[in-house]
Amino acid sequence: MTRPLVRVTRRLPAVVEEELASEFDLHLNGTDEPLGPAGLREALAGADAVLCTVTDRIDRAVLAGGEVRARILANFGVGHEHIDVAAAAERGIVVTNTPGVLTEATAELALTLLLMVARRAGEGEREVRRGRWTGWRPTHMVGRPVTGRTLGIVGMGRIGRAVARSAQDGLGMTILYYTRSEVSLDGMRATRLASLEALLAQSDFVSLHCPSTPETRHLINAGRLRRMQPHACLVNTARGDVVDEPALAAALREGVIAGAGLDVYEREPAVAPGLLELENVVLLPHLGSATDAARIAMGRRAHANLRAFFTGGGPDDVVRPRPVSAPADRHAASSPPRP
Ligand code: DGY
Repeated sequence: MTRPLVRVTRRLPAVVEEELASEFDLHLNGTDEPLGPAGLREALAGADAVLCTVTDRIDRAVLAGGEVRARILANFGVGHEHIDVAAAAERGIVVTNTPGVLTEATAELALTLLLMVARRAGEGEREVRRGRWTGWRPTHMVGRPVTGRTLGIVGMGRIGRAVARSAQDGLGMTILYYTRSEVSLDGMRATRLASLEALLAQSDFVSLHCPSTPETRHLINAGRLRRMQPHACLVNTARGDVVDEPALAAALREGVIAGAGLDVYEREPAVAPGLLELENVVLLPHLGSATDAARIAMGRRAHANLRAFFTGGGPDDVVRPRPVSAPADRHAASSPPRP
């Protein structure tokens, strides 16, 4: 029996590539460069499945551009805004993702950023590396305490809840959250606020955990940044386009808020120029799920989805096209499919 041909768009952990190769014919990406629209069209036309990542923009134009042999796009990652799921469905292509297996890794990174920005760790590290540290003094690089402060979570899905739990259990933080859907807190003490504005006004730290959707694009804009307290810090490990980056850079420069920690950007790998020159922002290169355990688990989950698809069982993690939202909803904060 011929084995399905799987086009893998980026290099994966070696063990994941080996396991995939034991079951499928693989076309790997030797250069590890993103394929780009032409390469993605070729992948769709030439393989039975494409195992893709957040760096592959598989939009309507890519999906419409010619012959398509692929019947499944197995995304290596939970966020799937880079795939036009509705256009894929129209071409008879199933889309899957990898929820659940990167929750703890991403929550850890959100807390890393929170602590780094509060305690000025990026700034301090830069000072030491540049040879500019002149020694200990009582007034040197004084930051803000985290323990016992208030953390506002926007989007209380798996990752938001994991951040909340660790912040509460480990740092004694008071948890506020804003989300449109009902969530089960499993005994965690957290207060749901009726509006995003109230959460922004009452939090010492705000951590974003909503998906990228048309409704959440630039959810954190100049007006909402002004709702935050001047000593407050913003953390984003969700998606870059949830934040209006030029507005954030202005808010950080003008002291509207005290600091920010970012792992994601609207036009990765580009970072809005206004941010790069600021000391009060910590900038990481999309490391949320970057632990060996999480990356292997993500690969295995994508593999399981491919196996289920080709053996007829049906993958566990099928992503459904989003219902088209009414115009009135477009600027409401939302937390649809919770990562
Ligand atoms: C995710 O899984 O969404 C990560 O950000 C990598 O895509």
